[in-house]
Amino acid sequence: MKRFLHHDELARDSRFVRQDNAQSTVLATLPDDVDTIVNTFEQFSEMIEGSVKGTAAEPLFESYGPGFALTILNEPIDPDVPASLTRLLLRMHGIFVGEIQALEGAARSLWDFPDAPWDFKMNMARQAWDEARHVQIFEKLLNHLGGEVGMFPESTFLFECACSEEPAMRVAGVNRGLEGLACDVFRDMIKYAEKTGDERMRQAVDYVLADELTHVRFGSEWVREFTKDDPEHRKRVNEYRRTVDKQFSFGGARSDREDAAIPIAWDDRLEAGFTEEELKDLAELSSSGPTKKTLVEAARILRERHLAKREAAANGSASEAQS
Ligand SMILES: [Fe+2]
Ligand SMILES: [Fe+2]
Repeated sequence: MKRFLHHDELARDSRFVRQDNAQSTVLATLPDDVDTIVNTFEQFSEMIEGSVKGTAAEPLFESYGPGFALTILNEPIDPDVPASLTRLLLRMHGIFVGEIQALEGAARSLWDFPDAPWDFKMNMARQAWDEARHVQIFEKLLNHLGGEVGMFPESTFLFECACSEEPAMRVAGVNRGLEGLACDVFRDMIKYAEKTGDERMRQAVDYVLADELTHVRFGSEWVREFTKDDPEHRKRVNEYRRTVDKQFSFGGARSDREDAAIPIAWDDRLEAGFTEEELKDLAELSSSGPTKKTLVEAARILRERHLAKREAAANGSASEAQS
């Protein structure tokens, strides 16, 4: 069996729609400038439209235009706002495919490094077992909310960004970057379930979060072990984890800002083995993208232009029909 699988080779059945990862990568590198953001999204408009066509995200594109992700990602999920169910389902589906990729990441770590210590392999096997259970839990929660597998496109961005060919970097990316993001997202989902009184969702996500803390701990311990006696190596691994964390902040949507859509789960992360110093660094690097004001303004312009384009197209075809 092949080692070091490329993200394009991840196997899915016919229910899944694969999305280009470019959009997620672009989100991580946006500057704090309205015009640049608007131009970037307009440039990708056709690709974004193509990637949501025929999926449950198509109405979001129709309502908000190519910058719909800016609105969806940067507004906290609130049961009282319009399209809240679609947005909740979009996030739940994103978590579901994230669990599949976490399963693939852990299972690949077990397979890709045959010379790694036995205890490392046992930890990765344990994690793969947990992630398989999480995939099932989130599939059930998706159904519980009225959604289904494949209703939104899947981006394999998480797997692509977190999987390095070097074992210390692999666990830094998957077990500290990806699993750390999972802690933030799950704490936020628990708060949402408490707000809506959804006891089933609250309890299920709480159980999953307990596992994720263990997975982050595997990462913290194995990075230490793989880089012991080599401070240079440890520094490079930490730099890699910081790059992954920057990408997983989606331009500040996951950050320590007061109005962040996904706040950093500070207490959970401390329990999982992150240090105060690492968390302060994460808060700083995740908040360094465009301000919320910039993103809201860019999203507004993109939406206006999109609706004007649609109206012009509709008028054009109406006058064609008349002549
Ligand atoms: Fe998981
Ligand atoms: Fe996990």
